[in-house]
Amino acid sequence: MLDGTALDPRQLRDAFGRFATGVTVVTMLDDEGRPTGVTVNSFSSVSLTPALCLFSLGKEQVSCRWLREGSHFTVNILAAHQEDIAWGFARPRDDKFEGVPRGDGSFGVPYIDGSLCHFECRFWAKYDGGDHDIILGEVLNFKELGGEPMVFYKGAIAALPE
Ligand SMILES: Cc1cc2nc3c(=O)[nH]c(=O)nc-3n(C[C@H](O)[C@H](O)[C@H](O)COP(=O)(O)O)c2cc1C
Repeated sequence: MLDGTALDPRQLRDAFGRFATGVTVVTMLDDEGRPTGVTVNSFSSVSLTPALCLFSLGKEQVSCRWLREGSHFTVNILAAHQEDIAWGFARPRDDKFEGVPRGDGSFGVPYIDGSLCHFECRFWAKYDGGDHDIILGEVLNFKELGGEPMVFYKGAIAALPE
């Protein structure tokens, strides 16, 4: 009988990578009130009324600690020209915002300037998702600027073909 525990995680990860997605950076404040963020491609829209979106975050990720009841975060949908920002927020650094153009959000969390769109969210719920947490945010405000999207496919970042 087939059993999920027999699957090879590396092969499964590669197979999941066959799903082309956009790329976001979820920005937030750490417990000292310093802006930080994490690159995330597991973003998804969920509900219009109430306005909800979700993403999943590895339980070991440092950013997971800052997302809890009462916190705010902003989902920034990256544009094709923001590849350096995508990789920059995907590795540990003391100040992930260094050199990143930012704007002041309505709830104290900066957004990334030049992104296609950003959604300012309030933590709504967290669900257990195995080695990840599934985080739902209530969208309180959003701004759409437009531009060319960034695409993530099979572990690589690309732009949409013309
Ligand atoms: C394109 C891309 C998408 C990613 N998507 C996710 C994701 O959805 N969830 C996740 O937990 N990590 C994801 N990561 C990995 C994190 O960005 C990375 O582990 C980061 O260093 C975590 O930062 P932190 O430890 O400061 O929280 C992604 C990385 C890249 C490059």
